[in-house]
Amino acid sequence: MPIATRRRVAVLISGRGSNLRALLEAKQDDYEIALVISNRPGAGGIEIARAAGVETLTIDHKSYGKNREAFERAMDAALRERNIEIVALAGFMRVLTPYFVRAWEGKLINIHPSLLPKYPGVDTHARALAAGDVMHGCTVHLVVEEVDAGEFLGQARLAILPGDTPETLAARVLELEHSLYPPCLVRLAFSLR
Ligand code: GRF
Repeated sequence: MPIATRRRVAVLISGRGSNLRALLEAKQDDYEIALVISNRPGAGGIEIARAAGVETLTIDHKSYGKNREAFERAMDAALRERNIEIVALAGFMRVLTPYFVRAWEGKLINIHPSLLPKYPGVDTHARALAAGDVMHGCTVHLVVEEVDAGEFLGQARLAILPGDTPETLAARVLELEHSLYPPCLVRLAFSLR
């Protein structure tokens, strides 16, 4: 498809940015990562974006104190100024308020390291092990007001192996995330055409 029709995507990060890297390295026929926003100064993902020639912004939530909506309004303004069409969360560690979720409804996606609806929230790998699960994985989903809920765009699974620890499992799931996220973003970009 002609480059001009690629959907403009912003990726929101808080940390190392390995999923951001996967989205950047995938063949961007249907989307273009046009902006990366970090809410944490010094997030590793910022360097990944810069090295790829992508505009970066740091919008530190701490500057807004307890006013979560003011922080989100600053992000929203930056996104609209740049004609962003899709917002992809990739290790973004802030729960979004209904204001932001509604503003980007249907165009806001997240990757979560569990087979949702199992294990929303944190410590997903330890919880899967503690439950004696035999399968684990990751989910890409539309973001809705309820945390880690919302329609699935894709899911990938793997077997939990004897001797797995939260760390070994996290490492294998992360690799799976890197192959799951790009096609899910393509699917959304395509559906908005
Ligand atoms: C990933 O496991 C993602 O599923 C979760 O946060 C982690 C981010 O890792 N939401 P990275 O910053 O993309 O390396």
